[in-house]
Amino acid sequence: MTEAGLTRSRIAATLSAESHGNRDSLGSRLVADFVHFFAYHFVLARGGHRNVSAAGFRLEVAPTVFDPRIFRVSEFFARFVLALDLRGKRVADVGTGTGILALAAARAGASEVVALDINPAAVRAAEQNAARNHLAERIVAVQSDLLAALPPRPTFDVIISDPPPFPGEPRDMADRAWHAGPGYRDVVNLFAQAKSRLVPGGVMYLSLSHHSDLKLLGKLIADGGFQSRLAAEHSIWIDRLLLFELRQAAANEQPA
Ligand SMILES: C[S@@+](CC[C@H](N)C(=O)[O-])C[C@H]1O[C@@H](n2cnc3c(N)ncnc32)[C@H](O)[C@@H]1O
Repeated sequence: MTEAGLTRSRIAATLSAESHGNRDSLGSRLVADFVHFFAYHFVLARGGHRNVSAAGFRLEVAPTVFDPRIFRVSEFFARFVLALDLRGKRVADVGTGTGILALAAARAGASEVVALDINPAAVRAAEQNAARNHLAERIVAVQSDLLAALPPRPTFDVIISDPPPFPGEPRDMADRAWHAGPGYRDVVNLFAQAKSRLVPGGVMYLSLSHHSDLKLLGKLIADGGFQSRLAAEHSIWIDRLLLFELRQAAANEQPA
């Protein structure tokens, strides 16, 4: 079944359930380190501009920018976003890379999309790729540490994010697409910032890997005031891509 065919209603699992037997295990850490060795040396750290197609978009991938043609999570997430009804919605894409998810949100009908990244090369790429795909009128790219560069208002209906999925110190800017710092230091504030910038009833979509530290991330998500459920998943080779839907927890369900 394609990822688009995995309906959100069909899948009901929580981050805590998903965390069983994942990165806590030595096996998962070894898999993540093994894949990172090749991903870093042969993809993330390589130079030169490339032109790729993914999820129906023509994209230029600049050096240090996450390549959506090689890393399947981008296309999986983009196709999920394309299937949403975002007509008239304001959307933020945190960690935009080439801008592929921002483009998908605009094509799904969003009236305004703010594409954010810490990497200035990604911000330029997102801007250029928006123009190249004739969606520049509805996408603005901003260099920002998570959502920190944005004013608290106006708020968003939907926030999407494909953050660096693994803990550990990044080697350089390119590696910030992969490693989020020890204990997910670089994304720790994502959930509280997202919650304060979502309209009441707003929703966040977050992609992670089965080899992410889901236990720790589950705690960060709950501390940020969200409840999560698995919305879609996709198996590739030795990984399982997980897409979570996060909604603001009711007051009596917030952590003390
Ligand atoms: C896994 S890549 C995803 C890129 C793109 N969304 C995609 O799906 O192809 C993660 C992105 O998050 C960005 N990033 C990492 N830490 C960040 C932070 N603190 N604030 C904003 N962006 C960040 C990286 O530069 C990278 O572009």
